[in-house]
Amino acid sequence: MIASLSKLALVGLFTATMTSAAAPIRNIMYLTGQHPFVPDSTTSSPITHVAMAFMSPSFFNRKEGSSSEWPLFMPVDEARSKFSPGTKVLVAIGGWGDSAGFDTGAYSDESRATFARNVAAMVEDTGADGVDIDWEYPGGNGEDWKKIPNEARAWQVAAYPKFLAEIRSALGPDKIMSAAVPGLPHDMIAFTPETVPQIMESLDFLNVMAYDLMNRRDNVTKHHTGIEASLTAVRAYIDNGAEPDKVNLGFAFYAKYFRTEHEPCVDNPIGCPTGLLEDPVTGEDLGRAGAFAWRDEVPYEVQASFERARTKGKYDQRGGGWYYWDEEESIWWTYDTPEVVAKKFPLIMEQENLGGVFAWGLGEDAPKWAHLRALNAGVRRLASSKEEL
Ligand SMILES: *[C@@H]1O[C@H](CO)[C@@H](O)[C@H](O)[C@H]1NC(C)=O
Repeated sequence: MIASLSKLALVGLFTATMTSAAAPIRNIMYLTGQHPFVPDSTTSSPITHVAMAFMSPSFFNRKEGSSSEWPLFMPVDEARSKFSPGTKVLVAIGGWGDSAGFDTGAYSDESRATFARNVAAMVEDTGADGVDIDWEYPGGNGEDWKKIPNEARAWQVAAYPKFLAEIRSALGPDKIMSAAVPGLPHDMIAFTPETVPQIMESLDFLNVMAYDLMNRRDNVTKHHTGIEASLTAVRAYIDNGAEPDKVNLGFAFYAKYFRTEHEPCVDNPIGCPTGLLEDPVTGEDLGRAGAFAWRDEVPYEVQASFERARTKGKYDQRGGGWYYWDEEESIWWTYDTPEVVAKKFPLIMEQENLGGVFAWGLGEDAPKWAHLRALNAGVRRLASSKEEL
């Protein structure tokens, strides 16, 4: 009895050691120009991929061979040197508010061919292992949705899979190619039962942005990266034909807050009215919402409120999110604590059999790395439980 127990314990230890060296779970970090900070190698283990954000899509519509300059906040080699050997480094193209280059590039067979060949040239010139396509979003609902109506972008639903296929073909099968995709069902305009299987043929994996799920287009309080809404997001892609193993769940290393009405929120702070957060005509931010990375100083005007959130925040079992409604200033806070990061492993990753995680972004969690540590611990545990099967 004792002998078999200790043998089991040894096997467990051995498995844990093995998997920390080669985790079968993808653990991807966006490294951003705003916060290009990297922890020491003990803290960064087991990061498997780094996606450097962002390079503008506008560079890829130029005449092929006209330049070998690919402006990025840091050279790919320099980023690579900051991580363990073998970590894959991708260049993320696009991002919120920088989609005009995609509108141009995806338009025709000819523009897609030019864009794709330029992407391949960029990967060659920079020495990256691949690309992450962050078009926010094909089919519309992006930052300029009030200026360019979605109807003017209807053609993108059919063009997006062709665009990705052209990039894949130019890159060849050995380079890594992923896409960051919207987390809210109403933004998944280009992701239908017909297109998702086509899209997945070109990609190694899909980064589902399961955050910002409350944003300034909402008018009631919600968890911006809650468990229930995250499940809805990943299931939408799986139901439309993405293999769970190719789906990565997004984590946010930042806090969000929204000013709300007062009276209706006193008894029911979850789902209570915020009033207008975005100008309904221009789509401009009305200054009643904000976000900050864990690395950043808390904005002065919400410091006292955040202090209350930090000490009195709680977990909502139903929606699966950490929140606080500040009665003094009528401010709704929504973010993940390290404990909620840990909860997402059994409740989302294991539940849906997902193949990986990613975070926006690595340096956003400096210098304490508390959320990164929780994420890495979840990845290690999940990897070793998979090995044991
Ligand atoms: C929020 O917006 C929706 C759609 O425009 C509207 O039907 C609803 O009444 C609004 N809710 C609140 C609380 O303002």
